[in-house]
Amino acid sequence: MAVSNSYVVIKAHIDGSPKESDFELKSESISLLLDSGSNDVILKNLYLSIDPYQLNRMKSQSSSQIYSTLAAAINPGEAINGYGVGEVLVSGNPEFQKGDLVVGLITWGEYSVIKPGGMLRKLELMGFPLSNHVGILGFSGLTAYAGFFEVCKPKKGEKVFVSAASGSVGNLVGQYAKLFGCYVVGCAGSKEKVELLKEKLGFDDAFNYKEQTDLKATLKRYFPDGIDIYFDNVGAEMQEAAIANMNLFGRVAICGVISEYTDSGRKAAPDMIDIVYRRIKIQGFLAADFLNVYADFISTTCDHLRAGKMHILEDISTGVESIPSSLIGLFRGHNVGKKMVQLSDT
Ligand SMILES: NC(=O)c1ccc[n+]([C@@H]2O[C@H](COP(=O)([O-])OP(=O)(O)OC[C@H]3O[C@@H](n4cnc5c(N)ncnc54)[C@H](OP(=O)(O)O)[C@@H]3O)[C@@H](O)[C@H]2O)c1
Repeated sequence: MAVSNSYVVIKAHIDGSPKESDFELKSESISLLLDSGSNDVILKNLYLSIDPYQLNRMKSQSSSQIYSTLAAAINPGEAINGYGVGEVLVSGNPEFQKGDLVVGLITWGEYSVIKPGGMLRKLELMGFPLSNHVGILGFSGLTAYAGFFEVCKPKKGEKVFVSAASGSVGNLVGQYAKLFGCYVVGCAGSKEKVELLKEKLGFDDAFNYKEQTDLKATLKRYFPDGIDIYFDNVGAEMQEAAIANMNLFGRVAICGVISEYTDSGRKAAPDMIDIVYRRIKIQGFLAADFLNVYADFISTTCDHLRAGKMHILEDISTGVESIPSSLIGLFRGHNVGKKMVQLSDT
């Protein structure tokens, strides 16, 4: 028996803003009969996480491709992998049985063939819907938790600024920071997003960065006593403005610099003399380096969710053909919260 699998590839490397015509939907037949001795696992893909770093993998070159195995180069025409959840259809691997729900690296398609050594583990739902395991209980959640607590090392009462604050990682950073007892301001790209941050997520304040002409002055207004922690998701001018407003011994966690992903000429140039004399610590990080806090992250976040103290923002598109527009939308601010694609019903 075989199934027809539709999957998404890039036609050529993408070195600027991605557009629909950069992608192609391909089709193949996958046999559901494994060769004897095969350890492959065949999955029906259920939910795929859509993440900005995938664009760096699609470039003709990027340091992400060298320094992170999870962000290795994606070649034109080849299957693309990404974080997601699936259901085991066939397994030659004794760790997995037909019907198991699994989480790990699946392909940008309807089915995945996972070779031995592929990143995959059984998923325990713990009473939460599948989609939550792609976002708040998945890598976005770990990124926010580890980035905020391990990299920023907050103290109660400190003043925190988060960019791309209505996005998947940003909204969680703001929520963790509020629950921890910090003062939190976020920026986002629309009036509706700003309202959501203030009215629903409990941010102390928020602003639409697209309406501001002088970001340094804007941040001075929102933080008259300075910023202690800046959680940077966007880079460029916002990073420069935040650093110009940092307090002594401030911490800047560079989670990502999305505004630079689509424009290689755009770079933050913060004032280095500020950094020296204010003793500011700036640290880039990858969530994958913090698997040591994974158990803490899961138990703390599940407790908050069960107590109704955290909100879940998910932005779900349906069907394999919506993968390209979902990725493109990240760079145009179309998403609110965790962007993912539902590939099949359970
Ligand atoms: N270090 C890690 O391990 C790790 C892990 C996950 C994610 N990340 C990084 O974290 C950041 C956020 O990722 P995410 O998955 O949570 O995505 P996301 O925030 O859910 O989606 C991206 C958002 O970025 C904003 N944006 C897009 N282009 C922008 C620009 N030119 N200037 C300012 N804002 C822009 C948009 O919101 P607006 O409407 O507000 O513009 C958009 O909705 C990214 O930089 C990503 O690469 C890092």
